[in-house]
Amino acid sequence: MDNTLEQALAQIEAIKELALFDLNLVTSTEQIESWRIEYLGRKDGKITNVMRSLPNLSKEDRPIMGAAANALKNTLESALNGLMNDIDNSENKNQTISTIDISLPGQVPVIGRLHPITQIVREICGIFESMGFQILEGPEVELDLYNFEMLNIPKGHPARDAWDTLWINYTDENYQTPMLMRTHTSPMQARIMENTEPPVRVIVPGKCYRYEATDATHEWHFHQIEGLAVDKDISFSNLKGTLYYLAQQIFGSERKIRFRCDYFPFVEPGVDMSIDCFICSNSRSGPQNDCRICRGTGWIEILGAGMVHPKVLENVGYDPNVYTGFAFGMGPERIAMLKYGIQDIRLFYENDMRFLSQF
Ligand code: FA5
Repeated sequence: MDNTLEQALAQIEAIKELALFDLNLVTSTEQIESWRIEYLGRKDGKITNVMRSLPNLSKEDRPIMGAAANALKNTLESALNGLMNDIDNSENKNQTISTIDISLPGQVPVIGRLHPITQIVREICGIFESMGFQILEGPEVELDLYNFEMLNIPKGHPARDAWDTLWINYTDENYQTPMLMRTHTSPMQARIMENTEPPVRVIVPGKCYRYEATDATHEWHFHQIEGLAVDKDISFSNLKGTLYYLAQQIFGSERKIRFRCDYFPFVEPGVDMSIDCFICSNSRSGPQNDCRICRGTGWIEILGAGMVHPKVLENVGYDPNVYTGFAFGMGPERIAMLKYGIQDIRLFYENDMRFLSQF
């Protein structure tokens, strides 16, 4: 092959590469037309110019070069037809052609975040960890034995009515006891004490379920954070001090806290702890207060607590004459509502990004 033919064929190859590269970059129908004129145009297109130069070649080289120029023309025409078909098939016929423009800045990926309840659960657990508590988790499908019986709530006990229970259609073969979606995190008290020698200081965060009508402060599935401390000489003032510290860390010292006597079969004495209502701030409490969050009481209950009942200590093999303990179970949804001023608990689980992305 002589030099001139070699150069001419190399030129054809170079035109092909450049033409296909350029065709990849077109982003509008106007650009397609410019491309067509540049490469396939009859008057002054690159292939026409190659054809025009054929007479300069030797007689033998002319057919070789002519065939190569024709092959190039066919390649470019079919690439162009392919692109036109794609455009015809796309929905945006006369609009922008979707090709990748590498000169555009990249798309910033949307970065997810933790759900507000996960955030508050972690915050609360962190505060208890700083006080020396250990964090443990337990099963959401629970045995009647742990959810009720070990907690001093035997079958037929009227206190069972306080927990609207979702029963599972299954009986555990080993224990011969019905199963349920746990109504609270308290069963972990018994599970932990059964397997641990005192002293015990644990926090158990987790999900609970109740067959309950929902309203602004009640969900049928919600979270609880259980706390348990058992040792020699644990007193009620230890319980109060621990919960005061928690409330101050979460809400600051402004918020008012109220303890009231309450009944839970697994503690004695039992209390509930409330925080002053963030909507009406206790200022209008009384019959004329129609606040739908605190129902006019001026207070929102966030937890139940008390001294571990001697019967529960006995059930797990602890000597109630040697050991005492306190326990509490709090609702992180209610705490998040108070902390962020949220007026309806159901907002947490509607999965509306306009709500969730605020946290
Ligand atoms: C109990 O569940 C006890 N296990 C708490 C306890 C633990 C008492 C240890 C003594 C010792 P109670 O049903 O009151 O108690 O629920 C505790 C907290 O869970 C409530 O104060 C509230 O903050 C939250 N809670 C209860 N039911 C719901 C619900 N339906 N939706 C959202 N939060 C709830």
